Amino acid sequence: MAFTVAIDGPAASGKGTISREIAAFFGFEHLDTGLLYRAVGFRLLEGIEPIEAAKTLDMSALDPDALRTPDVAQAASKVAAIPEVRAALVDFQRAFATRAGGAVLDGRDIGTVICPEANVKLFVIASPEVRATRRHKELVEKGLEVSFDEVLADVLERDARDMNRQDAPLKPAEDALVIDTTDLSIADAVAQVVEIITEAGGAD
Ligand code: CDP
Ligand code: CDP
Repeated sequence: MAFTVAIDGPAASGKGTISREIAAFFGFEHLDTGLLYRAVGFRLLEGIEPIEAAKTLDMSALDPDALRTPDVAQAASKVAAIPEVRAALVDFQRAFATRAGGAVLDGRDIGTVICPEANVKLFVIASPEVRATRRHKELVEKGLEVSFDEVLADVLERDARDMNRQDAPLKPAEDALVIDTTDLSIADAVAQVVEIITEAGGAD
């Protein structure tokens, strides 16, 4: 059975963490679609033309840790505004979403553009300060020297660029359920989502 869960939301809202835990709970495969845009952004920083990079993307050639820096995040949100870059990544994401056994995809346009027919659509939000605090902690723990203010600026700048672009802007699908994780632990957020997916037939 192809059961698809679409999870969108702004930077560091918790969508990736929730997606990973949900995938483990239900035995679904998980695709972090942000990594695709980060990979194209990484190639841009190496001087490679982004549309070409998107068309020839080989994720196995890249170290995921090298993709999780603020510089790469900024480059990702710039290349993500190029319609031809987005178009080059659609087929891969849709094929992943409709695989047998269930799939959870997280990103910005999963419920609106990539999987408008998803069985469950969620839009995960949290206040910018909480999101920046969580992301800052994560980056410092990885050994990156970055200040809270830099992380907050990155988050706000990307949110604005992602929401205001013409093609597939960041916004909740009309039928998405909003989960606000500002005051929610990961365990509580995951428990809520497990209930939503179970009610929608994801465990059948
Ligand atoms: O995928 P996204 O950028 O939306 O966020 P994430 O990588 O899932 O979460 C960013 C950070 O916030 C991670 O370090 C999570 O462990 C943490 N987090 C949290 O503290 N509380 C939550 N309810 C959700 C995430
Ligand atoms: O983890 P975080 O939420 O900070 O970022 P990400 O999900 O890795 O996405 C990095 C950037 O890729 C975003 O700021 C968006 O510009 C872009 N993106 C997108 O446009 N569409 C998606 N489905 C996923 C990411």
